[in-house]
Amino acid sequence: MLTIHGEAWAANDPLSPTGRWTAVTSGRAATPPMGWNSWNAFHTDVTEAKILASAQAIVDSGLARKGYRYINIDDGWWLKRRMPDGRMIVRTSTFPSAAIGGTEQTSLKPFTDRIHAMGLKAGIYSDIGANTCSQAFAPNAPNLPEGTAAEREVGLYGHIDQDIQLYFGDWAFDYIKVDGCGIRAFGPESEGVRSGQYRALGPLVDIKEIRRTDISAVRNLYQQVANALQRSKPNGDYVFSICAWGSADVRAWGKDVGNLSRTSDDLTPSWTRMLANFDSAANRALYAHPGSWNDPDMLFVGQGDFDEQHLTEAKSHFALWSMLSAPLLIGYDLRKAPQPLMDILGNGDIIAVDQDPAGNQAVLAYDTDDVQILVKLLSNGHKAVAIFNRGLASADVTLTANHLKFSGSAPIALRNLWTGATLPAFSGEMKIHLQPRETAIFDAAGTRSLADGIYLSEMPGRVNPAVDGVSIPQPDPTIHRMITPWGSTTDTGEPPAYTGWGGAQADATPYRQALRIQGKMYGTGLGVLANSRFELRADGNFRRFIADVGVDDSTFDTDDVVTFAVYGDGKLLAISRPTRFGQAAQTLRANIAGVKIVELVARGKSARNKVPTVVTWGNAALLND
Ligand code: GLA
Repeated sequence: MLTIHGEAWAANDPLSPTGRWTAVTSGRAATPPMGWNSWNAFHTDVTEAKILASAQAIVDSGLARKGYRYINIDDGWWLKRRMPDGRMIVRTSTFPSAAIGGTEQTSLKPFTDRIHAMGLKAGIYSDIGANTCSQAFAPNAPNLPEGTAAEREVGLYGHIDQDIQLYFGDWAFDYIKVDGCGIRAFGPESEGVRSGQYRALGPLVDIKEIRRTDISAVRNLYQQVANALQRSKPNGDYVFSICAWGSADVRAWGKDVGNLSRTSDDLTPSWTRMLANFDSAANRALYAHPGSWNDPDMLFVGQGDFDEQHLTEAKSHFALWSMLSAPLLIGYDLRKAPQPLMDILGNGDIIAVDQDPAGNQAVLAYDTDDVQILVKLLSNGHKAVAIFNRGLASADVTLTANHLKFSGSAPIALRNLWTGATLPAFSGEMKIHLQPRETAIFDAAGTRSLADGIYLSEMPGRVNPAVDGVSIPQPDPTIHRMITPWGSTTDTGEPPAYTGWGGAQADATPYRQALRIQGKMYGTGLGVLANSRFELRADGNFRRFIADVGVDDSTFDTDDVVTFAVYGDGKLLAISRPTRFGQAAQTLRANIAGVKIVELVARGKSARNKVPTVVTWGNAALLND
């Protein structure tokens, strides 16, 4: 029990400092995974031959050398679950090398051996429920599982340890994507269950309505997979990709369970769907870190609005995914890829932005429905900056030193990452003209405005909102809503569905307003709700922490009383006086020499489930001066 300002704080409450980094670091995802996946190219019409040819193309084209190494099978590889022992049986008509002894003895080890012999890694696909997405949504697709209802239950449900051991221990896979249709689409009223084809399960997830979703049950199932992976691969050589499409409040907990977490429903080769998927991840920078990335879905470079006739759109899609530190998983039949598409996928400078070891997802430095500016601090101190024209008109944009958090009086050099050309140096600001749907992407070198330190909003890869204060998950209304590719205009349209609104933000409040305490604006800082706890990785590299703290002028609860505290490796270092709406910011300073994990706690007094209290850590920084 800790007593602060005469109040007792229970040691076991979620705001108590842990002295640890609690987001996932197990698995092999220090940088976002890169590779190829069969789904966008072949759907369930997938064969071993098609996959191996794509793997060969990855090697022959030089893409493997550039980092594309995971070759992932998606839905469609299975025949059935063998009874009564439950072992999974591969469809040998499409994966002939799996036939190792009659129709009931199959193994994908010969397949993974081939992939490994090419110097690549192999990924497999399953579902957290008993049945799969194609069984739910594509009843006429080729290669659906066969047999009795029990045999057609090819998902992990009830078989997590058995299947993970088979896929990783026996078959030597390196990566698994775990989809969620089995806990979403097989309720007692569903078509497949009523017709007797499938047994009912749940549903635990309602993708459109969070209140009808059992968040903790979903999280618990995915956690069981994470635990099974650690048992099967104690050396940590695996990637665990959660595919829950931004449902079940996964954006709050995916980073604590898996290496990647889908932030939205499927991408399609349509420009407006790309906007939606991009938006679903773009304002979640603080939720991505080395080991735990936001996943706006696999690339559609090569198809539809991103094909050879639409290179501006294809380049935007690719550049934006790299700025988001998204996994780069090619979803194209590489046996027929035209050179301009290979040049996009193989742009080493842009891949390097995605793969930068600092692992900072870009932060929105300017944010409108027309134009956005994204900035990403790289490990060499440069910034990657992308200027994205979302609209159908050309745009004139002014890029400022301020957007880059660079000094306005020192020269700034921009190198165009598409052409390699370095522009004449400028100071202060420069004008850039963008075509409709164009994304300009540059490496920017300048003098950082905080010379001897780093703003927390520049280092999202090292900031974990362990508790973000959101007690009632709310859909994010800022995500682009398009005519759904699945329903034309006859369905309900796309009401906001992806929860995360009110989550912690870099350089903005949780509701994306400017940070502001008693009238004073802050161009940089962290915005979060009260009753929150951040973990920061300082790694003993900094001497001082500093921030101006207070209740933000945009708060909903104007009565709450909030106390801000800073901890170093679990020990209290600094604490504010209790403060409330309308009171001036207090400057909080802490000596953090030698400290590995700094924690920032903002504790309010209002009852849980009241309207949120918005708080600001203005100009928050780690300093070395
Ligand atoms: C879901 C996933 C997709 C793909 C399909 C396969 O829709 O979100 O990425 O895996 O299932 O059926």
